[in-house]
Amino acid sequence: MRIGVSLPEKLLTRFDNIILQRGYSSRSEGIRDAIRNYIVHYEWMTDVHGERVGVITLVYAHSQRGLVDNLTDIRHEFGSIIQSSLHVHLDHDNCLEVVVLKGDGLDVRKAAEKMMSLKGVKHVKLTTTSMGKEL
Ligand code: NI
Repeated sequence: MRIGVSLPEKLLTRFDNIILQRGYSSRSEGIRDAIRNYIVHYEWMTDVHGERVGVITLVYAHSQRGLVDNLTDIRHEFGSIIQSSLHVHLDHDNCLEVVVLKGDGLDVRKAAEKMMSLKGVKHVKLTTTSMGKEL
């Protein structure tokens, strides 16, 4: 199948630089690989059930209108499972936040997905681990 995709120029340039460095034969091959990784990542992320410990790492532009308030709302919504968080002012525009949660895996995932969907959030990574009981 052939698809047409519109991308911001800066994003495409960065992508092209990476596929060049990694030695892909074509942009299409790089895009296929990226989509596969996206699917694996998503499926892995959604396979989260039972009591989990989760760490959400997010990078965001604090100047984005409404974003800080929206993040605060999410932190309150999930206040019962959020154990701790750490804030680092990365540079003039960007903040890094690390949020540690402990609770039902579905709630941990929901918190990460809500943060991910906010405008101004540039990057979100969720890692989860079981609490050792199943190991
Ligand atoms: Ni900050």
